[in-house]
Amino acid sequence: MYTHEDLSALQAQSLRMQSWIRRQTFSPEMEKTLRRFSSWEVSELIFGVNQSTFRGRLAADPSLPSGEVEPDGRQRWFSLEEINELRRRMKVNRRTLMPKRPAGKRAFRAAIANFKGGAGKSTVALHFAHAAALDGYRVLVVDFDPQATLSHSMGLTDVAEDHTVWGIMARDLVRETARMNDAPQGAESGTALPQRKLPASITDLGLGELRVADFIKPTAWPTIDIVPSCANAAFVEFASAQYRHLNPEWSFFAAVSRYLDALPDDAYDLIIFDCPPAIGYQSMNAVFAADLLYIPSGPGYWEYDSTTSFIGQLAEALEDLSDGFDGTFPAGKISLPKAFCDIRFLMTRYEPGNDLHKAMYDAFSKVFDGHVAEHPVEMTRAVEQSGRFLSSVYEIDYRDMTRETWRRARDTFDRAYQEFRDTILASWDKLEDEA
Ligand SMILES: Nc1ncnc2c1ncn2[C@@H]1O[C@H](COP(=O)(O)OP(=O)(O)OP(=O)(O)O)[C@@H](O)[C@H]1O
Ligand SMILES: [Mg+2]
Repeated sequence: MYTHEDLSALQAQSLRMQSWIRRQTFSPEMEKTLRRFSSWEVSELIFGVNQSTFRGRLAADPSLPSGEVEPDGRQRWFSLEEINELRRRMKVNRRTLMPKRPAGKRAFRAAIANFKGGAGKSTVALHFAHAAALDGYRVLVVDFDPQATLSHSMGLTDVAEDHTVWGIMARDLVRETARMNDAPQGAESGTALPQRKLPASITDLGLGELRVADFIKPTAWPTIDIVPSCANAAFVEFASAQYRHLNPEWSFFAAVSRYLDALPDDAYDLIIFDCPPAIGYQSMNAVFAADLLYIPSGPGYWEYDSTTSFIGQLAEALEDLSDGFDGTFPAGKISLPKAFCDIRFLMTRYEPGNDLHKAMYDAFSKVFDGHVAEHPVEMTRAVEQSGRFLSSVYEIDYRDMTRETWRRARDTFDRAYQEFRDTILASWDKLEDEA
């Protein structure tokens, strides 16, 4: 017979193994580091300019960052900071290399969501964040998933529970309850409404005093920050249910949106949410805060079946919120009824030579007419190989795998990312104006 103690013992064994993998993979301090990018990658894959034009520019202006040459190599290798300096200072055919961003608008928020497990959400979120950073954007990722896949792959393993989305929600409960208690009472009724009281077990946590910046951690990428998660799934859903009970008028689903509203509008360009495989308190926060809903789905029938069920249940949940909080919802940057700038389905693990996948893609396109991303993310061994080093395809050095495999994987994520970016650019300037 086996009990929770046996499960714990198995977990301890596995944690030792994970720690060993991190030591082998990251630097000796167990910190994830970001590699340099070769002049081939910088010119052709990142800036989209001819390699000899790029080399000529560097030669003509010795004040530009010139990267490092490896002892046995000819290529120059650039850090992301150097790439960003080049991007700011160079123009090619009078074209700026800076990424597009509408003036006077806040960061654009995109949720990668589906309650189907293993649909490719975290893989897509990780690769889009890296592709966007290489494209010159400043990115904040929010890990809403208590499995913490994205946090772990970004090198964050030692995260305090308070500093996760759960902490943001509990902080919001404390602050919103205080706000409601302080709000002027209906004069005509003449009687004061009873004050809502939270138990000391919550108020004593001190979360109400945490600052916005306390939840944001840097990553190995200088232009990517993260609100990380940690393994506390059962606790978070249980605690959130209890919080709702303590203050039923608390708009629990808008906690993260209110938190993001407090960020300076120009602190980031893109905010990407990785969602858990469930519709619950965390994912409702992600969906509510999002301007764009991106729904990855595998190419099989059961994945299609599950995706259909996901959007149905999401529709119901959003309708319930609109009805339940109608008229009582405090105004922020996002209001009720919840409206998205766009909703798109992205097929993942797609094999172009597989007739069944092709048929599924055609069916998706027919059913979700106009909402299916044109470029699916293809199935690639590079994801498996780079994942073994807790990295994305962008992070892995192309010399560490077959050049063909790396190139094909990069191409498929590049195309999917570019379509994601163009979808965002089509709606970004329609967001509300800065306050
Ligand atoms: N394009 C791809 N090619 C090959 N393997 C992939 C690809 N995308 C995802 N995978 C693999 O599929 C598995 C599930 O992917 P991922 O963790 O991204 O899904 P998820 O939707 O985030 O899962 P969960 O619901 O558990 O959060 C992983 O092992 C991942 O490496
Ligand atoms: Mg995931």
